[in-house]
Amino acid sequence: MADDLCSFTKDVFITKAPKKSPLVLRMIVLVFAMVCGVYICSICVKQISTRSKAGFLNIPVIQKACPEPNIEPWEIPYVHHPKPKTYSRAECACNPVRYFAILSMQRSGSGWFETLLNNHTNVSSNGEIFSVKVRRSNISTIVETLDKIYNLDWLSSASKNECTAAVGLKWMLNQGLMQHHTEIVEYFNTRGVSIIFLFRRNLLRRMISVLANLYDRDAKLLNGTHKSHVHSPHETYLQNTSPQSMQHC
Ligand SMILES: *[C@@H]1O[C@H](CO)[C@@H](O)[C@H](O)[C@H]1NC(C)=O
Ligand SMILES: *[C@@H]1O[C@H](CO)[C@@H](O)[C@H](O)[C@H]1NC(C)=O
Ligand SMILES: *[C@@H]1O[C@H](CO)[C@@H](O)[C@H](O)[C@H]1NC(C)=O
Ligand SMILES: *[C@@H]1O[C@H](CO)[C@@H](O)[C@H](O)[C@H]1NC(C)=O
Repeated sequence: MADDLCSFTKDVFITKAPKKSPLVLRMIVLVFAMVCGVYICSICVKQISTRSKAGFLNIPVIQKACPEPNIEPWEIPYVHHPKPKTYSRAECACNPVRYFAILSMQRSGSGWFETLLNNHTNVSSNGEIFSVKVRRSNISTIVETLDKIYNLDWLSSASKNECTAAVGLKWMLNQGLMQHHTEIVEYFNTRGVSIIFLFRRNLLRRMISVLANLYDRDAKLLNGTHKSHVHSPHETYLQNTSPQSMQHC
């Protein structure tokens, strides 16, 4: 009887003890689950990283798989697939890109022409990049700068989206272009750059424009805006109807 009682009390204790143990068990299960979770996560991360590595390795393969652009055979040397270092061209990686350079003399309408080009969402003309002397100090800095532009890594206000279909710059003949012309022509030929040469036939008008520009630089007519560079039809209208600059020449 005493034994029974004892066992009864034991049973009581035993039945009480399991009330605590589920908590412990739960903790164990929880810890186990957490460890499992962390393990699974680490495997996932490993897989993701190997996948992205594989992705990088696959890029040339994807590039090769680009469908042939529907162009004339003579155009092929002028169509490129640049791979910018600073960003991904994403879904436009297969979009062909054409390279151009606007060669001109000052006051030949190149600013206006460039504005028209840049009005297109997929055309980037980056302006007079070589007006900065360091960039044209020698042929290696020139080539380096051109490479950056044509690889779509030149980020200026004119740079467009990753779907850019034509990229180029405006280059004045006196900005190192004549000095290094043989190397530059070779670069243009080997890289398949199209040249747009702007020439103002009326040289007298060009000379007048040069002088008007010199005058306008200091006078800042029209509320301090630089009048001799027009960027909209409205501004051409203003210029045509205000002959002061001509008179002052
Ligand atoms: C630029 O393009 C817009 C449409 O995208 C057009 O409304 C505008 O007239 C264009 N500007 C010039 C100067 O051609
Ligand atoms: C710019 O390029 C994108 C992608 O190729 C194209 O869908 C879009 O029509 C282009 N924009 C213009 C104005 O041609
Ligand atoms: C070219 O010019 C840059 C900058 O002025 C200079 O750092 C570099 O050494 C020059 N390279 C040569 C080959 O003269
Ligand atoms: C000149 O500036 C004033 C004030 O900034 C402005 O109200 C006016 O429209 C401007 N005129 C022209 C021709 O831009």
